[in-house]
Amino acid sequence: MTGDALAQDPEELRKRIDSSRAHPARVYDVFLGGKDHYPADRDAAAAGLAANPRGYLDVRHNRDFLRRAVTAVAAEDGIRQFLDIGTGLPTSENVHQIAQRAHPDARVVYVDNDPVVLAHARALLVSSPEGRTDYLDADLRDPARILEEAAKTLDFDRPVALCLVAVLHFVPDEEAYAIVRELVGALPSGSRLILSHLTDDLNPENIRAVQRTYTDRGFTFVLRSHADVERFFTDNSLTLAEPSVVPVHRWRPDRAAPVPDRPDAAYLAGLDDIEKIRYRDINDVTDADINVYGGLGVKA
Ligand SMILES: C[S@@+](CC[C@H](N)C(=O)[O-])C[C@H]1O[C@@H](n2cnc3c(N)ncnc32)[C@H](O)[C@@H]1O
Repeated sequence: MTGDALAQDPEELRKRIDSSRAHPARVYDVFLGGKDHYPADRDAAAAGLAANPRGYLDVRHNRDFLRRAVTAVAAEDGIRQFLDIGTGLPTSENVHQIAQRAHPDARVVYVDNDPVVLAHARALLVSSPEGRTDYLDADLRDPARILEEAAKTLDFDRPVALCLVAVLHFVPDEEAYAIVRELVGALPSGSRLILSHLTDDLNPENIRAVQRTYTDRGFTFVLRSHADVERFFTDNSLTLAEPSVVPVHRWRPDRAAPVPDRPDAAYLAGLDDIEKIRYRDINDVTDADINVYGGLGVKA
């Protein structure tokens, strides 16, 4: 374990945390059933859920896509190094836990720009003894710095799986493509790109209603088409692995999404819609629920 970012002055960190406004990592945490968020984040999630009552399925299936894709590249493709940008708050399970199940010596560098993620990053640094994890407090829009810092933990002469999962919708226009070009350009042959992205191709009414609730709160929330999402791979000459770019619940489904323990029905009845999310089984998903594409690319 390393994690120089954690040496940061607690007072400085406190100043950076603005709990009065919703922030993507924390709103996402609400939908994952976590507890590391503030009332403003919960309000934003409630507005998103009012706009699209089954919207928690986008979040939870996106996370499950990450689980399956990391498992595939680690267990099937033998990848032992991961650069996970836009990590989010620690959850069950984090990338290193998934990857180290296949390879205890796997190394993971986590990157996020949210100070609340930084405050909780210690949980991301509990690596297996043979492996290693690090956390960078950095912005995706500064790929040069990310690559320089990540090279202290990862060996860029060996394949790396770059994870850009549900993060590029925070970067508008061509800037997103330029960032991915720089990051993928630094990776050696045999590397992988695991990418997911929100779209308004599939169920436009639902997701545009959600988009409005977030843009009203000052979030950048870019919805990209199938062709736009494919470009992140094809512009960089990456070969798309089967089944190419598809709605995340259709990407190599294994029906192994965690089923939560459901509490007593009387207790459940007393919870509000947000509190109920953590007890939802996501295996009843249909095509009408999902607004996220996912794909896996391989660098020749
Ligand atoms: C929707 S969450 C996705 C978390 C995780 N990748 C997943 O899919 O489960 C997006 C994460 O990206 C982070 N993020 C957003 N913009 C970022 C940026 N410019 N640089 C680094 N991280 C960013 C947010 O703080 C948040 O933790």
